[in-house]
Amino acid sequence: MGVQQNNISSNHNNIVKLKRLYLQSVPAGSIAFDGLVPVGQVDWGFQDHLFNTILSKDATAYQPADAYTRRFLKFLIACLERNLAEDEELHDSILTLYSNLMSKPDSPSDVTKPTFITYLLPSSQSLSQEEKEGEGQVVISERKSVLSADGHTGSRTWEAALALGEFFLFTPLPIPKPIPQSRILELGAGTAFTSILLSKLGAKHVLATDGDEKVCEAIRRNINHNRCRNDISVSQLLWGASQEDCTVYTESWDLIIGGDITYDTRDLSDLVFTLKKLLVANRDKGAKAIISATVRNESTLRQFDTELSVAGLTFKVQEIDESGRQLWYYGSDTPIRVYTIC
Ligand SMILES: C[S@@+](CC[C@H](N)C(=O)[O-])C[C@H]1O[C@@H](n2cnc3c(N)ncnc32)[C@H](O)[C@@H]1O
Repeated sequence: MGVQQNNISSNHNNIVKLKRLYLQSVPAGSIAFDGLVPVGQVDWGFQDHLFNTILSKDATAYQPADAYTRRFLKFLIACLERNLAEDEELHDSILTLYSNLMSKPDSPSDVTKPTFITYLLPSSQSLSQEEKEGEGQVVISERKSVLSADGHTGSRTWEAALALGEFFLFTPLPIPKPIPQSRILELGAGTAFTSILLSKLGAKHVLATDGDEKVCEAIRRNINHNRCRNDISVSQLLWGASQEDCTVYTESWDLIIGGDITYDTRDLSDLVFTLKKLLVANRDKGAKAIISATVRNESTLRQFDTELSVAGLTFKVQEIDESGRQLWYYGSDTPIRVYTIC
């Protein structure tokens, strides 16, 4: 490969990295733009490719919020300007988009309105032809707030769900069946990011559950945004529900999953009750539960460990370090653990 060819493909890869950051609405001030543009060699062709891949209306069906795009452009344009090649100028389309957004007033509700966050998949991982042709992605309507107005925590995708998603993408799985042959149940699904991801990776059947009815309604909308082609459905399930209340205990499952569901000590015994019921009912198939946990408080997780042991469930814990956070952008400050339980 010649030097020029090398430059073209490294520029393309960097533009795809920028696209990942932009579509995930990663805070623009934290993006290292300078490492992603050709130093001192930004020309029209690079900017054209960047505009068409990331910013044009055709680049994606689900654009980030205008306020985010405006801030992203502010940092991007400053970086492009610093790195312009001799006799080159800033691209008209990028400047026009920025000035249009500058003249658009923000409405007060913009801060609380849900916005689309798009998580791009690594292109080789998406199984369907349709997904391979476009870039595979999971689109989620999210609010950045920790607690919704209704008091639940399910309106944003949490770091542990992203870590769980990467775990399924990159780790050899300790489950007997590959994902495409599996029936998967998610507990405390929230935005259902992980359920939708696994459905896109070909899971035969996915049931996303959450205890909150409003969260379940939002999951249905998220499933529609993603045009999942495999069988994926939603059901309200409160941990600790008895057998009579709950048909999921009588269905067959290969894998039970959950992201960031171990944060409240008051819920742990109900959660473990539900995990045990599901695992015992599906033990002959070798069913496992894979739960990712953000370590906010060691003592909460020690209590989870104790509840699992008292219930007679065995488990293995893996720390997700920096090298396990390869694809999506989420803080590396808080440790995340993945439990494999059977
Ligand atoms: C921190 S959020 C995590 C959401 C999602 N798994 C993620 O990681 O993005 C916890 C989720 O668990 C749900 N939840 C909390 N307590 C529950 C319970 N007792 N039964 C069922 N779901 C519950 C909440 O409604 C919320 O959607």
